[in-house]
Amino acid sequence: MGSRIQVFMMVISIQMLVIAAQQRKNQDYVALKALMDNLNNLPPSWAGLDPCGESWEGIMCTNSRVTSIKLASMNLTGQLSGDLQYLYELQILDLSYNKGLTGPLPPPIGNMKKLSSLILVGCSFSGLIPDTIGSLQQLVYLSLNSNSFTGPIPPSLGNLSNLYWLDLADNKLTGTIPVSNGTTPGLDMLVHTKHFHFGSNQLNGEIPSKLFSSSMVLIHLLLENNQLIGKIPANLGLVQTLEVVRLDRNSLSGSVPSNLNNLSHVNELFLSNNKLTGPIPNLTGMNFLNYVDMSNNTFDISDVPRWFSTILSLTTLKMEQTRLQGELPVALFSLPQLQTVILRNNEINGTLDIGSTYSNQLQLVDLQNNFISGFTQRAGYNIELILVNNPICQETGTTEGYCTIKQSNSSYSTLANNCLPGQCSSDQISSPNCKCAYPYTGTLFFRSPSFSDLRNTSIYTILQNSLMHSFQSSLLPVDSVSLSNPSKNLVDYLVLSLEVFPSGQDRFSRTEISGIGFVLSNQTFKPPPMFGPFFFIGDPYGYFAGVTSSGTKKSSHTGIIIGAAAGASVLVLLLLLAGFYALHQKKRAERATKQNNPFGSWDPNKSSGSIPQLKGARCFSFEELKKCTNNFSDANGIGSGGYGKVYRGTLPTGQLVAIKRAQQGSKQGGLEFKTEIELLSRVHHKNVVSLVGFCFEQGEQMLVYEFIPNGTLRESVSGKSGIRLDWARRLRVALGAAKGLQYLHVLANPPIIHRDIKSNNILLDERLNAKVADFGLSKLMGDAEKGHVTTQVKGTMGYLDPEYYMTQQLTEKSDVYSFGVLLLELITARSPIEKGKYIVREVKRAMDKTKDLYNLHGILDPAIVLGTSLKGLENFADLAMSCVEESGTDRPTMSEVVKEIENIMQLAGLNPNAESASTSASYEGASRGYEHPYSNESLFAYSGGFVPSRLEPQ
Ligand SMILES: *[C@@H]1O[C@H](CO)[C@@H](O)[C@H](O)[C@H]1NC(C)=O
Repeated sequence: MGSRIQVFMMVISIQMLVIAAQQRKNQDYVALKALMDNLNNLPPSWAGLDPCGESWEGIMCTNSRVTSIKLASMNLTGQLSGDLQYLYELQILDLSYNKGLTGPLPPPIGNMKKLSSLILVGCSFSGLIPDTIGSLQQLVYLSLNSNSFTGPIPPSLGNLSNLYWLDLADNKLTGTIPVSNGTTPGLDMLVHTKHFHFGSNQLNGEIPSKLFSSSMVLIHLLLENNQLIGKIPANLGLVQTLEVVRLDRNSLSGSVPSNLNNLSHVNELFLSNNKLTGPIPNLTGMNFLNYVDMSNNTFDISDVPRWFSTILSLTTLKMEQTRLQGELPVALFSLPQLQTVILRNNEINGTLDIGSTYSNQLQLVDLQNNFISGFTQRAGYNIELILVNNPICQETGTTEGYCTIKQSNSSYSTLANNCLPGQCSSDQISSPNCKCAYPYTGTLFFRSPSFSDLRNTSIYTILQNSLMHSFQSSLLPVDSVSLSNPSKNLVDYLVLSLEVFPSGQDRFSRTEISGIGFVLSNQTFKPPPMFGPFFFIGDPYGYFAGVTSSGTKKSSHTGIIIGAAAGASVLVLLLLLAGFYALHQKKRAERATKQNNPFGSWDPNKSSGSIPQLKGARCFSFEELKKCTNNFSDANGIGSGGYGKVYRGTLPTGQLVAIKRAQQGSKQGGLEFKTEIELLSRVHHKNVVSLVGFCFEQGEQMLVYEFIPNGTLRESVSGKSGIRLDWARRLRVALGAAKGLQYLHVLANPPIIHRDIKSNNILLDERLNAKVADFGLSKLMGDAEKGHVTTQVKGTMGYLDPEYYMTQQLTEKSDVYSFGVLLLELITARSPIEKGKYIVREVKRAMDKTKDLYNLHGILDPAIVLGTSLKGLENFADLAMSCVEESGTDRPTMSEVVKEIENIMQLAGLNPNAESASTSASYEGASRGYEHPYSNESLFAYSGGFVPSRLEPQ
């Protein structure tokens, strides 16, 4: 007996020795051990003694030291231990979305001097934010939002000189916003911080004037839903970098400082639900404003201000109960991007006229409780107009639709691509690609989107695409994402449910979930600018081991016996229920099929009537296209890309077509596909490649284009195609391409910005007519000639407008820049970036206007220099250089470009109106085998943008 105990004791002490040795070898283990002692549901892989040697999920090491802990959405419960401080090398700590994490944030956390990201979003931490955080000198991201922290914002945060992101929103913080006073630090010292997100707390006192200075680089100032009082400090006008300002839902008083309109970069301005007085702010000059809400203040009684109809970028105007009087100007409604006007509870009078050129994105005009006595009725309004409680509705007893309030419906759900319903077992969910799986779910909150029309489905497609892009570039195995249930919450955040589906498996691993969580918690995912600042709250996830061990297996014996006795009668009931259920499912399936196939009710043989928006495009059956491509044979393949393949086909009429066939994974939802072909079918011009038809059948999505036989301009300029382009021909090609682009900018309805003009997207037909192809990245514009669309930067390097790249403000002038590069390419035959040399800079450098041919001999394409006279080349170079001017406003419009090319042609003795010549004489019959222009993968990825609601299928 005794000896056994001795052996036992010896084993224990040897183990302890081993542990001690390991501890010395890796002190990080001590800290993690403390974490393990205090937390439940840590990954089962946290076993053994060396966090860096074995594969501990959520841990990353550098040189055998723990540098990153990412445990988002691990279902962790418990409290943090102060021993965390011994992780001296830790740089990233992300414990977001663990609702079971409670208690205070231990002050010793301030000893982790290497920490650059401290991310604890959506947990249940409480108590004070420790002052010691102010000593984390390396901190770049500090996200403590959506917890239960109390007390003041520690002034020491002012010492975080590297801080970029400060999110303390949605806690229970009190006290004033701290500013420095010579002895103590304050947030005014954070001159490198771009984000102050303090909304939904209980902060009080005045907004300190000292907080703002011209040395700040703040872009998002979010103070909404607090208890702030006093005046808005005039110093706010000094922070010229601001893009989003939310001061709504406080008790701010006094008049709004008149220099507010100095903030010329602001896109979203919320001053609503305060006690502001004085004149209605004059926002003239805030030319990038998208969304304005100043509702529920007691401004001086005032006529409708002039700026209402001068800010071209406005999407949303909310001025409820602001004591507005007088008539609404008709010009307001023709602001090109206008979506929503809410001016309830004012004293607006007169006759309402929305005009005939109102914005094609206009969705809602709500003028309840005003004094409007008449309405100029015009044909075909497709907007929701509410005039309830106006004399026009009260006195005339009219029964017009605008005298009742309808429930507007903004439901959205990512459409599955014709999945069979009921395929998945009860607890799995079908992905948009019809794969049954356990998705990771959560909620996205956008704190100030620039749009207000939630029925425009293209915005969700854009968001889905950018989420997918973000997950894929983080190398996460994501099959697809699904968005649903858009709504605005009480503080006007856009709220969306998100489901993320795994790829190649039916369930994510812990490492993958923490990776996805981190992409969202750490803001690695940058949504397109129109969505503004966001945060995400992840739901708990059912990990593999956790699910099987709980619940289902533990049925007791008594349960089974009772169950058997009751069985017979229950069985009858169950059968009945099953019958009803089957019927219900069938109905549901039918409904779902209808939704998934928006063409379902169309009769493709009737070219008119039910499909008014499809101009000239045909609906092909799968069989038809299969036949004309010889069963999609490889021999007919003419290009491929990420979206799928392009085939050449011959229709029974003999017409040659190029068929773009989306492959699994690159298909869009049915409605998006329909919207896209509706857009493409409206574009008809001899210098633009036109859509012949489409196929949406048997799960296929195909676009059928006219076949353009002579390939791309790039191939011809580079000499690959064998087509000789002399100076005259180049001028003709330039003119054709310019006219095509001019058509898209000026004449297409709605106007389109191409976004990817390049020589690979200019095709040449048999008569060498230039045709603009691939609106894959196109953005629809509003009706007006001016205005811009804020959007994700897309395009091709070398052609990309630097101004657009810097500001992300897309205008037609970005296309003009790309076109200028194309013109330079036409005379030099060089790629825009060749051997590290940028064509624009090279031409600029070589150019000497005092010399013959501007001294460009050395850089010109030898193929044209050899030819005949180069009359007009100088003017051509001038035109190209004006197109690539740094500032968009200095560049010509496409109409001016067309005119100038026509002038140059006349200088060169050519008739700009003559048809191009046939190419046969100089076609040197080179082998084809080129990469076909249709192979650009972007066309199928087209995701709308600001698709006007009138274009949308109902
Ligand atoms: C608003 O500001 C603009 C530019 O600062 C000015 O021209 C205009 O007169 C102002 N309007 C009013 C009503 O004060």
